Amino acid sequence: MSVHRDDRRLTAPDIRARKGGVPVAMLTAYHAHTAGLVDKHCDVMLVGDSLGMVMHGLETTVPVTLDMMILQGLAVMRGSRRALVVVDMPFGSYEASKEQAFHAAARVLKETGCGAIKLEGGVRMAETIAFLVQRGIPVMGHVGLTPQSINTLGSFRAQGRDPADWAPIEADAKAVADAGAFAVVLEAIAEPLAAKITREVAIPTIGIGASAACDGQVLVLEDMLGLSPRVPKFVKRYTDLGPAIERAVAAYAEEVRARTFPGPDNVYSVKKPG
Ligand code: KIV
Repeated sequence: MSVHRDDRRLTAPDIRARKGGVPVAMLTAYHAHTAGLVDKHCDVMLVGDSLGMVMHGLETTVPVTLDMMILQGLAVMRGSRRALVVVDMPFGSYEASKEQAFHAAARVLKETGCGAIKLEGGVRMAETIAFLVQRGIPVMGHVGLTPQSINTLGSFRAQGRDPADWAPIEADAKAVADAGAFAVVLEAIAEPLAAKITREVAIPTIGIGASAACDGQVLVLEDMLGLSPRVPKFVKRYTDLGPAIERAVAAYAEEVRARTFPGPDNVYSVKKPG
């Protein structure tokens, strides 16, 4: 179901107003062409720093740079018209100070034309989020599993599976909401905790591995299309494009070698004179 009602692009306040209403459908997009497809059906497109792993074969998101995010953010903006485009702030571009975060986020907004940025971290980032929001930069938060912290976390593990660990995750989500974020991603969080946070915060929670209790959902597009070789438990593959692409590529290579491609339909003939 598409909830787009007119031709104007959705804004951060539009998404903020969806708390407790029709769930927010969000997917990642990194290219103009796929952005055009996602734009027809989703409310929000995230130019996620997962592009480092998906597009560049990196092991983690840590090496992703601001220039990489801006380049793909521009492509997604060019390919879309209606969804709110949110661009991830990459590791190292915003954590040192709120001023560093402002300069980097302002570059993202000015150079891509996107409508909001996303950054990871709860209590520790609350002051920065407030600083950005007060200066005109809409912020989506991201708590629970925060992949940019992989080197301190040690592994990509689900969070809050023991109720004894709930308090700091709840505090993170509340801090992000109180700081003025318009929505918060809850990543890889046990279902009852995600439901509790969704009840407790006034902004939409967008789940990825955090259950249908959230106010919306996000997945990495390539994961749900069956293009990623390994996916976490929380991903549902809606189709399996990997084998279909491989079959097409194999057929193409075979036809090239057999000289059956290009065929008569794929060549230019000489124009008839007159
Ligand atoms: O980078 C990304 O794709 C993300 C989603 C997993 C939420 O942050």
